[in-house]
Amino acid sequence: MKVVILNNAAEVAQYGATLFSKQINRKPNSVLGLATGSTPVAMYKQLIDFYKHNQVSFRNIKSFNLDEYLGVSGDHQQSYRHFMNEQLFNHVDINKANTFVPVGDAKNPIEACEVYEQNIKSSGGIDVQLLGIGRNGHIGFNEPSSSLGSRTRVKTLTQETIDDNARFFSADEFQPHLSITMGIGTILEAKQVVLLATGENKAQAIVDTVQGPITAQCPASALQLHPDAVIIIDEAAASLLENQEFFRHIERENQKLEQSLGL
Ligand code: GLP
Repeated sequence: MKVVILNNAAEVAQYGATLFSKQINRKPNSVLGLATGSTPVAMYKQLIDFYKHNQVSFRNIKSFNLDEYLGVSGDHQQSYRHFMNEQLFNHVDINKANTFVPVGDAKNPIEACEVYEQNIKSSGGIDVQLLGIGRNGHIGFNEPSSSLGSRTRVKTLTQETIDDNARFFSADEFQPHLSITMGIGTILEAKQVVLLATGENKAQAIVDTVQGPITAQCPASALQLHPDAVIIIDEAAASLLENQEFFRHIERENQKLEQSLGL
């Protein structure tokens, strides 16, 4: 697990966007796994900026989002499909037909989950999967107690997650309690996994992810098993970690190595 500790949220966004644009420039037809939530928004803004300055093109990109609310159609203001259109897809040259988000209003959600899995597979698998993290260590909508081998399926949200996400809904608005999410097994199959976290309220989840036992009680701890997982965090999210100076030292060494190799 590579842990990159940066000074603030702006640097996290910049680092994440640089990593994704390098991936796209190396492989213009990359398959990206994308995420919603407030954390990736600044990274998407930075990617849009790179696109506008001709530093990256999404023309041949395919993307799969982690999750969607169940019972919500893609044109609903609160859907993650709408979020992705607004925060990224509408502002870059991606072909929307190549962007996939689980179908929240599918007639048969169980079948839709299987189709989603098959679709990822027939696209050659995800090259790099972006993740945020919930305060309880959830990734996608894989709440604590999710099977570490789980596949795309319908999941019930915890009250904590419902409360955390209530800020996006107005008081009288329907807030879904169910979702469709890629499973932890699905996420672990991505060739690289990149998790972004900022702010003090993520600090304990980051400790549990990086230092804790691998346990379904902290779904993100499963990333310890991934051969190429990158955890990009600001000082506040890193504040409870042991070995902070060691992680900073490793990153300085990695930067030197990458520069000498011209990467
Ligand atoms: C939701 C999403 C997750 C996201 C989490 C944290 O529950 N399903 O993918 O990581 O929120 O969101 P935020 O970045 O807003 O803290």
